[in-house]
Amino acid sequence: MKENQNISIQYSSYSHISDLDDEDINLLKNAVEISNDAYAPYSEFHVGASVLLKSGEIVSGSNQENAAYPSGLCAERVAMFATSANHRDKEMQTIAIYAASETTAKKQISPCGSCRQVLVEYEVKQNKNIKVLLMNSSKEVWEFNSCRDLLPLAFDFTALKKQ
Ligand code: THU
Repeated sequence: MKENQNISIQYSSYSHISDLDDEDINLLKNAVEISNDAYAPYSEFHVGASVLLKSGEIVSGSNQENAAYPSGLCAERVAMFATSANHRDKEMQTIAIYAASETTAKKQISPCGSCRQVLVEYEVKQNKNIKVLLMNSSKEVWEFNSCRDLLPLAFDFTALKKQ
């Protein structure tokens, strides 16, 4: 028997950063600032990611490239791994991601598949949604209330755990 299935996701779009609340604006501005620290001599594509913890602290990261290309890492994972490594068990509330590129000014850049998988795992681990904010260089923002919306069929790491 064949049954057609459908998965839908929700997100909000804001035509400008100024339509968000002060906490989100501050976090997005932090992501813009940190994108200047990207080490991206090969792609020249600068990305900044900032994680807001429930404690109010912000942990930031930018993409870091390497001549041995696969050795580099996206901004999102730099920020998430730094958060987990330095603030173990502190709740992550929001991650703001900014991609600076004139060529994509009208397009929204969203995290790669590997970063989505990492985002989902931290969300599942803390059993609390992590909000995702994406902003392009036109300052348009997309808001996802859960990382799950970015990767509905994420690999479920709990399947690896022994019962
Ligand atoms: N990159 C990110 O940092 N985040 C994304 O969401 C997409 C891509 C980086 C990886 C690489 O340094 C450069 O952008 C071009 O792919």
